[in-house]
Amino acid sequence: MRLWVLAGLVAMGVTGAQAQGTLNVYCSVQMEWCQGLATQFQRDTGIRVNMTQRGSGETLAAMRAESQNPRGDVWFGGTGDPHLAAAEENLTQSYESANNAQLHPWALTQWRQSNQRAIGVYAGAIGFGFNTELLARRNIAAPACWADLLEPRFRGEIQMANPNSSGTAYVVIATLVQLMGEEPAFAYLRRLHPNVNSYTRSGTAPIKAVARGETGVSISFVHDAVTERNAGFPAAWATPCEGTGYEIGSMSIIRGARNIAQARRFYDWALTAPAQRLGFEAGGQLQQPSNREAPLPPNAPDLGAIRLIEYDFARYGRAAERRRLIERWDREVGALPR
Ligand code: F6P
Repeated sequence: MRLWVLAGLVAMGVTGAQAQGTLNVYCSVQMEWCQGLATQFQRDTGIRVNMTQRGSGETLAAMRAESQNPRGDVWFGGTGDPHLAAAEENLTQSYESANNAQLHPWALTQWRQSNQRAIGVYAGAIGFGFNTELLARRNIAAPACWADLLEPRFRGEIQMANPNSSGTAYVVIATLVQLMGEEPAFAYLRRLHPNVNSYTRSGTAPIKAVARGETGVSISFVHDAVTERNAGFPAAWATPCEGTGYEIGSMSIIRGARNIAQARRFYDWALTAPAQRLGFEAGGQLQQPSNREAPLPPNAPDLGAIRLIEYDFARYGRAAERRRLIERWDREVGALPR
């Protein structure tokens, strides 16, 4: 977990900031984006931001633990399924922003499905990241299909995240269940296990390991592979030939938020096109923004060109279904010896 308070109170006196109040944001996108949001929001409004960055599953767990005494005000980013689970568990509260009218329909579908408690802020697809230099050196052909990942050529070469902490990993599991059916999906994950060298805490750790040549292949959101490539690493991406799942990265206001006026102000602001451009401009992130006026960043994966499944957010965002699938993964896959 990383926590920081923006010191220096950008471009204003401490008194001004105190007058505007404070906001506690739980942030589940990459650190650079979280920092960019905090800096710009503080600059635009004078509201002081305390930011805590954690994975989607970790944030949901923290909100459950704090439910009697909530410490966060807004949860920004992270995969959509745990936002839906949080809504169902009454950990978040409904809100209708005047800026809803500016959003793509998929962002509002998330809002309706959560009884107005979670809204889409970006979208991205699951696929494979790989290190082109490392694979070439070892003479390994890049993966093109889910089936390829089971090949002996990838033994010990793949990383994915752990679904307890990472929303990305949960989307991977739910995707496989929807593509194959539950029993074949778990058989697949058990067969994949010998090829996996590590189940990381964070969803973006595997593609960072790929970028740095520590592992050949990751199962990741493909936009994160482009981020690494843009940073100069030999990372490339592919989406599975059988089809793949995707996320509606979301935002929710936490139930019992102590700074509710500031939370609503942040929520409204985060839906605007200029704020949504910060993902790319401040954080180098390449998700598809939910504001229709925010452009798809250059080189970002085009979701319209990817073979996406009809991800059943209502079912896989249900708290009990999420818990059941993660527990099954723990028992049948995570617990397997190496
Ligand atoms: O910030 C990059 C990202 O891939 C987001 O698109 C996604 O919502 C988030 O990470 C998920 O992180 P985690 O898997 O650690 O919950």
